[in-house]
Amino acid sequence: MQHPTYHSQLTQLRDGFTACFGTAPAHVTRAPGRLEILGNHTDYNAGTVLSVAVDRAMFVAIAPADPAKRNCQVVDLHDHSRREFSLADLAHPRKGDWANYIKGLLVELQQRGIAVPPFSAALLGEVPLSAGMSSSAALEMAMLLALTQLCGVELPWLDCAKIGQACENNYIGARTGLLDQFSSLRGKQGCLIYSDFRSYEVSTVPIPAGTAFVVANSMVKHNLSQEYNERRQSCEEAVAALAKIYPGVSALRDVSWGQLLAARQQLAPLPFRRALHVVGEITRVEKGRLALQQGDVEQFGQLLLESQQSSEENFENSCPEIDALVAIGRGLPGHLGARISGGGFGGICVHLVRAEQAEEYLAALQKIYHERSGRKISAMICQASAGASCLD
Ligand code: GLA
Repeated sequence: MQHPTYHSQLTQLRDGFTACFGTAPAHVTRAPGRLEILGNHTDYNAGTVLSVAVDRAMFVAIAPADPAKRNCQVVDLHDHSRREFSLADLAHPRKGDWANYIKGLLVELQQRGIAVPPFSAALLGEVPLSAGMSSSAALEMAMLLALTQLCGVELPWLDCAKIGQACENNYIGARTGLLDQFSSLRGKQGCLIYSDFRSYEVSTVPIPAGTAFVVANSMVKHNLSQEYNERRQSCEEAVAALAKIYPGVSALRDVSWGQLLAARQQLAPLPFRRALHVVGEITRVEKGRLALQQGDVEQFGQLLLESQQSSEENFENSCPEIDALVAIGRGLPGHLGARISGGGFGGICVHLVRAEQAEEYLAALQKIYHERSGRKISAMICQASAGASCLD
């Protein structure tokens, strides 16, 4: 089935595939990037998150390899870079190589007894790279759907999410949670998705009419692995200390704000501040969900600002460029709230704005930031889109 919205991407993808491999693709898939709207670093703490799948996606075309060839070949149509590798030699990730996201999936599939035959694939991506919009999860989920189609295997969505996470954890070395894969798989047009990372339940919350998301890319490239893993370790230290005080605590999700404050003296200062952020975020997600259900977008926007403040002060995963972009946004007409989105340490911030003022807001944000810093940023208006799917 050809989705009319993706017509130009699909034409480019199919033509590119045929030009590279001399045959038409057997399957085509699409998986979107995501915006984390509220609930920062809560996923690996068994917490909850409000996120959207965005209208920027990774498209993958795939076909079995020419029987004369024993290797897999993948071409990125964006810059025509190519990778070739053997399915018998996947053990060694090459630092910083995009093919790691594919090879890591293949390792996970092999470990689950799913034998993928040699294949040729082409990628066409629209999700900004290393920006905090989960271009990697979009690649993983689009590729995973393509690979399973190729093998004639149908995996439950939760298994797909866990395979993507295992690829990040085991092959890439980033101890990320499941948020990015959940959002890419379960996104729904016009809706936020509310994910519970303890029960793995996902539900939708309609985005209030008359609002839009302006996404500003600080152009500060984030390297998730090291600082992200350090944050996760601090959360684990906090849990270990809290479990001694409150029996039954196995994750920061189990601790209330009051319990955390009461335990302040028994926690080292750094894990305490990291826990303040996470427990605060889980509380804000619940308040935010309620505010949206009541159509109270001002209150929701306020929660985004509180989240940003906590990232700046407690979790220290914002950066001066994002702080400046949020501060500028606060002074602009149509502003409702703004915060860093995703792992942090650079990347994007998301601004919730009144839809009729979104275009002017975006232009003013870019202009004022440039005047003040001398640096340029890219910005875009994002819509909440449907999750990953097989298109052919
Ligand atoms: C990254 C990770 C997610 C999540 C966010 C922060 O995007 O991949 O699992 O932890 O950071 O909320």
